[in-house]
Amino acid sequence: MIIRKAGSLKGTLRVPGDKSISHRAVMLGSLARGETYVSGFLKSADCLATIDCFRRMGVSIEEMKTADKAPCLIIRGKGLHGLSAPQSPLDAMNSGTTARILSGILAGQSFSSAIIGDASLSRRPMKRVIEPLSAMGCRIASAKDNGCLPLLIEGGNLHGIRYVSPVASAQVKSCILMAGLYADSPTTVIEPALSRNHTELMLQGFGGFAEAFTDPESNLPACRIQPQPELIGRSIRVPGDISSAACFIAAGLLLPNSEITLTGVGVNKTRDGILRVAKAMGGRIEMSNIRSEGGEMAADLHISSSKLVGTLIEGDLIPTLIDELPAIALMAACAEGKTVIRDAGELRVKESDRLDLICRNLKAMGVTLSESRDGMVIEGRPLSDKPLSGTRIDPSGDHRIAMAFAAAGLLAEGETEILDPDCVRISYPDFFRDLSSLIQ
Ligand code: S3P
Repeated sequence: MIIRKAGSLKGTLRVPGDKSISHRAVMLGSLARGETYVSGFLKSADCLATIDCFRRMGVSIEEMKTADKAPCLIIRGKGLHGLSAPQSPLDAMNSGTTARILSGILAGQSFSSAIIGDASLSRRPMKRVIEPLSAMGCRIASAKDNGCLPLLIEGGNLHGIRYVSPVASAQVKSCILMAGLYADSPTTVIEPALSRNHTELMLQGFGGFAEAFTDPESNLPACRIQPQPELIGRSIRVPGDISSAACFIAAGLLLPNSEITLTGVGVNKTRDGILRVAKAMGGRIEMSNIRSEGGEMAADLHISSSKLVGTLIEGDLIPTLIDELPAIALMAACAEGKTVIRDAGELRVKESDRLDLICRNLKAMGVTLSESRDGMVIEGRPLSDKPLSGTRIDPSGDHRIAMAFAAAGLLAEGETEILDPDCVRISYPDFFRDLSSLIQ
């Protein structure tokens, strides 16, 4: 895919549904009794992997059109104890969210199962779910004994635990909360910083109960789940994914004379770090039409070209913008002055080593920066002072790197070539079409 320098971005776009919320809707809908209707579901490769796993455990999941012709998913839930044993390993493909949250659900089942994934997912750490699930009494092992997939799981007879997680990870937290639904007593997860809380919010709508609080012993964010006799099907409207909005936000702020509106974007406080950072950098983003959609906040975002300045991004802010850091690094590269990013070591164990790929590719476009163990220091230069140079980008199969550098290509002199552009199907199959629709 060849990207050329753009004049500006103008227009209105509805970004596709939130990936995290779409996964959880399928999972909780499958475990509920009765039907769950999901509108705005993200039909991307990752979420289709989750659907496939639950279909293979006997859940009927179909697409239909509502009266106003909008696509809607119907999940005919089997109840907490109604899944059937899959005939072969469940394939999470490229999706860490599928593998990790599913492991918590499988821990509660009375059958044995296995989870596999593609080459990238099979390199990612699973010890972070093996440890707490083992502490709950689940027999779970990494088949190759390397702390990675395949995972072999013999579920049943779980005990409630108090778990202090070493990482601020919503995938880990959600895995433990799902297992906690099946435990014999309440389960508490304590995290070093608050990670996205979609599982907790969505559970409430299904009649479950996960209470967020500050752990008095450690003063850290915590969440407690009560074991649940049953969940009840519901309707869910999935807001637009702020992680998919991130590249448009970055390009809209950086390209001169740009004015774009992104409608219905999820702005949950545990996900809105990019908006806070953009504001700290001098970015002009207005919110309107702020509303709650089934417990999740959504808003229309109006983005106008702005002069950005460097900033510091660290600590508790990191989990609230973890997937947006490739786009934020681009904003920093074209801002006036230095941006320091630290405490973001988790980026090394995403779909790729994102710290390495961000740094390597920004350098190839002419940006001055230094990489550290858990972040980077970017010496920003406004585009009017030093333009980026187009180059060939190999995203190593990582959708977020491909999209962030496609946005960078709009700002660069000459041509930017994105190799393997099809990897955007993981979270945003129509990304290049939507991007073109805004280019002037
Ligand atoms: C996700 C949580 C984050 C995020 C991932 C989706 C989720 O991962 O990077 O894309 O849906 O819970 P971690 O929880 O491992 O940080």
